[in-house]
Amino acid sequence: TTYKLLVLPGDGIGPEVMAEVEKIAAFLTYEGLVKFEIEKGLVGGSAYDVYGAAISEDDMARAQEADAVLLAAVGGPKWDQVPYENRPEAGLLRLRKDMQLFANLRPAICYPALADASSLKREVVDGLDILIVRELTGGVYFGEPKQIIDLGNGQKRAIDTQVYDTYEIERIGRIAFELARKRRNKVTSSEKRNVMKSGVLWHEVISALHTREFPDVELEHQLADALGMQLVRRPKQFDVIVTDNLFGDMLSDVAAMLTGSLGMLPSASLGERNATTGARKALYEPVHGSAPDIAGKGIANPIAMISSLVMALRYSFNLEDLADRIDRSIAAVLEKGLRTGDIAGGAQNTISTAQMGDAILEELKIA
Ligand code: NAI
Ligand code: MG
Repeated sequence: TTYKLLVLPGDGIGPEVMAEVEKIAAFLTYEGLVKFEIEKGLVGGSAYDVYGAAISEDDMARAQEADAVLLAAVGGPKWDQVPYENRPEAGLLRLRKDMQLFANLRPAICYPALADASSLKREVVDGLDILIVRELTGGVYFGEPKQIIDLGNGQKRAIDTQVYDTYEIERIGRIAFELARKRRNKVTSSEKRNVMKSGVLWHEVISALHTREFPDVELEHQLADALGMQLVRRPKQFDVIVTDNLFGDMLSDVAAMLTGSLGMLPSASLGERNATTGARKALYEPVHGSAPDIAGKGIANPIAMISSLVMALRYSFNLEDLADRIDRSIAAVLEKGLRTGDIAGGAQNTISTAQMGDAILEELKIA
C-alpha cells in the first residue's frame, strides 16, 4: 500500500522540525519499510503570505484526500496584524472543522531518561504511557445558547451550554475502546454525572457501548475532579482516558506537565471512518507552537514532530512494529544523554535540531 501524506510545515520552527520527519520518512521509504507519497503544502502565516489565506482551497482538497496530514505549527509575530479570519490559526481551525476531526488524542509519555524533568517524583512518572482522548467538536465550547445578556441593572449574565448527543459520545467512546485494544486494554471514562446531565448521559452511553461492542476491554468510570487528582498522584494507573471537550482540555494540559517538555509531545486528531477504505480522517501535529523565540536558530527539539509521525504509523497505517522501532530509537538517543536545549535541564552541551534528527535516524538504522 502507498500512503498519501500531506505535509504542512507551517511557520517558525515548523519547517525546521518537519525537515527531520522528512529525513525519517525518506529512510523508511528507501528501506521499503513503508511507501509514502508525500505532498507538501502551506498553512498559517506562510500560506497567508502566498495566497492571502491561512490555507488554500487546493491544500484543503489535498488534506481531504490524504491518508494523513502532518502539520508542524502555525503563527508568529509577523502576522499579528493580519485580519482575524486570515490569522495563522485559522488554517488549523479550518482543517479541524472541514475534516470533522472530533477526537483529539494526547499521549503523555515519560521516557525514563527524562523522568527527572517532570514536576513529579521520578518513580511516579518513570515509564509513564497514557493516552487522553478528548472530544473536540461538541460540549460547552460550542453549545447554544452561548451569550452575555445585559440585565440592565449594572449586572450581566453569561451563558454557556453543555450539549452532547448520544452519537457524539458513542463515536468518541468507540475510538477510545479501539485504541485501548492496541494498548493495555483499559479505558477510564470521566465526567461529572453527580452534578451534570451531560455526565449522566455520557456514563450511560459509554457503559452501553462497552457492553455491546467492547466487553473484552476493561472499563472504569472516574469523576473528572477525582481523576485530576489521580493524574498527579498515581498517573501510571491509567491507560486510555476518554472525556469531554472541557475536561479533556484541562486534563490533557495537566498530563503534559507530567512529562517534562513541550518539545516532546505529539497529538492526533481523528474523524469518521471512510465507508469504503475504513481509514479515518487524521491530522497529526506536535502540541507545541511555532516557538518564535527560537525560530531560525536550528535548536528546536524535533521529537514531538517525529512522534507525531509515529502516531500516524500507529493509528492511521497500523504499522505498530515500525512505530515501536522509532519509539525505541528515540528512547535510545535519550539514554545516550543527547539533548536539545529544551530538555537539557541547564546542561551546556546541547545538540541542534538536525543533530537530534540524525541521531534518531542512526539508531533506527541499527534497531
Ligand atoms: P510555543 O509552543 O510556540 O512556545 C512555548 C515555549 O516552548 C517557547 O519558549 C518555545 O521556545 C518552547 N518550545 C516550543 N516548542 C519547542 C520545541 N520543539 N523545542 C524547543 N523548545 C520549544 O507557544 P507560544 O510561545 O505560546 O506561541 C508561539 C506561537 O505559536 C504563537 O503565534 C501561537 O499562536 C502559536 N501556536 C501555535 C500552535 C499550533 O500551531 N498548533 C499551538 C500553540 C501556539
Ligand atoms: Mg488547552
